[in-house]
Amino acid sequence: MESELIYSLLNPRILQKIILRLEIKQKFIEGVTVLDKYVVSGGKPLCGEVTISGAKNAALAIIPAAILSDGICRIENIPNISDTSAVIRILYELGANVKMINKSTIEIDASKITTHVVPYEMTKRMRASYYFMGVMLSRFHKALIAPPGGCDFGVRPIDLHIKGFEALGATVNIESGMVDIQADRLLGSQIYLDSVSVGATINIILAAIKARGVTIIENAAKEPHIVDLANFLNSMGADIRGAGTDVIKIHGVEHLSGTTYSIIPDQIEAGTYMVAAAATGGDVLIKNVIPKHLESITAKLEEVGAVVEEYDDSIRVTRPGKLLKCNVKTMPHPGFPTDMQPQMAALLSTAEGTSIITEGVWDSRFRYVEQLTRMGAQVQVDGKVAVVEGVSELTCAPVKAVDLRAGAAMVIAALMAKGTTHIEDIYHIERGYENIIEKLRDLGADIKRVYIEGQTATQAM
Ligand code: EPZ
Repeated sequence: MESELIYSLLNPRILQKIILRLEIKQKFIEGVTVLDKYVVSGGKPLCGEVTISGAKNAALAIIPAAILSDGICRIENIPNISDTSAVIRILYELGANVKMINKSTIEIDASKITTHVVPYEMTKRMRASYYFMGVMLSRFHKALIAPPGGCDFGVRPIDLHIKGFEALGATVNIESGMVDIQADRLLGSQIYLDSVSVGATINIILAAIKARGVTIIENAAKEPHIVDLANFLNSMGADIRGAGTDVIKIHGVEHLSGTTYSIIPDQIEAGTYMVAAAATGGDVLIKNVIPKHLESITAKLEEVGAVVEEYDDSIRVTRPGKLLKCNVKTMPHPGFPTDMQPQMAALLSTAEGTSIITEGVWDSRFRYVEQLTRMGAQVQVDGKVAVVEGVSELTCAPVKAVDLRAGAAMVIAALMAKGTTHIEDIYHIERGYENIIEKLRDLGADIKRVYIEGQTATQAM
C-alpha cells in the first residue's frame, strides 16, 4: 500500500480526500459526527458535456474475480466510488497485494491469499460482497461468507446462488449469520435459473470457471456487466460462451493467467444523466458510452418528448418541447433497467398526464416515493405499481436519499425544482456515482456538498 500512499500524496485531490476522511474520522471519535448533504438550487436546464465512468456493477464482479488468477491482473477504468473502494479493501484485507496505479487503475496479485473466510465486518458494506462466495468456492473449494448488505428494497434472497453451487457439487449451510459452502470437487452441471438473476448468474460463472467439465446456465441474466465479466475471465484463459444470451456455457479450465482489462462504461450512470438532461429540458452530450446498452432508456426518453442523437461512443439528449406521460415496466436486460426506475419517476412527476410505473424486478422499490411527494409529486403506490399524476412543477424541500438510485432520483428532482433543495444521506449516492458534484457543475448545475455538524450518523451502507 506504500505506492498508494505515495501516489495519493502526489495527487492533491486524493490528498484532500484523505485529509477529509481523517477529519471525519476524528470528529466521529469526538462523538460529533460530520455528515454530508447536497444543497441544490434547481430550475435550470443542464447543458454541456459529461464523461461516463466505468460500470460499478461490472467492477464489483471483476475485482473479486481477480482472486481466481495465478498472475497479476491490471484492471482499468474502475469508477472511483465507495462501493469499489470497499471491494478493493476487502481484497487487501484478505491478503492480496493491491497497487493503485492511478485513480481508476489497480494491479491485483491475489496469489498470497490463503483464507476462504470473508467476515461480516467486510461484507456488511455492500450487497455485491456475495461474489466472494463463488470466488472462494472456485479457488479453495470452500467459502465462509457473511450474507450481503446493500440497498434495501424488499427481500434480497440468494436461493438461486445456492442452487447453482449445490448443482456443482457443493454443500451449503447457513448458520450463525454465515454462509458455509464446502465441496470436495466441483463438477460441471446444467443449471436452470427459476428467475432471471444477475447475481446468481455471475456467482455461478465464478464457481464453475475451474469446475471439471461443462456447466450450462439456462435462463441466465443478459446484463452488459455479465458480458464484461465473461470477457475479463476469457482474457485470463477461461472458456465462457454465450454471455449476453440466456444460455451461458462454461468449459472448466485448470488455470487463469494474469491480464490487463478495461471495464465498460456504466450504463446506469449514463442513463441517469440522460434522464437528468430530459427532465431539466437541457442539452447534454454524454460521452464514453455504448449506445446499444442504452437502447431501452433512449426509447423511453423519446416517448416522453426528448430527442436522442446516437454517435459511436456518445449520445446527445435534448428536450425541446413539453414532457409527455409514458408507461414504464422494468425488466431484466434488454428491458428497461430497474436501476433507472426511480430516476424515471422523478422525470414523469412533471410530465403532462398520468404515467404508470411497474417494477418488474424487485418486490418493493418505491421507498423513495415518500421523498418525491415531499417535493409536490403526486404518486400513488400499490404493490409493484406506481401511478404518477404529472404536476406543473416540483417544489424544493428537505429530502434524503433512501438508497443509491433513489438518491439519484432526488438529485434529478432537485435539479427540476425551482429554489433550494437539501438532500441528506448522500453516502448512498456516492456508492455509485463518481464525482457527481463536479460532473453536474460542469453541466451548469448549482449543487454543493455541505457538512452537517452534530447529527447522528445513520448506518452508512
Ligand atoms: C444486481 O443486483 C445489481 N447489483 C442491482 O443494482 C440490480 O438492481 C439487479 O442486479 C437487477 O438488475 C449489482 O450488480 C451489485 P438479481 P442482484 O439477483 O444481483 C430475485 C444498483 O442500483 N432473486 O438480478 O442482487 C431478487 O429478489 C443495484 O446498482 C431471487 O429470488 O439482483 C430480485 O427480485 C441495486 N433469488 C430479482 O431476483 C436469488 O437467489 C433480481 O435480483 C437472487 C435474486
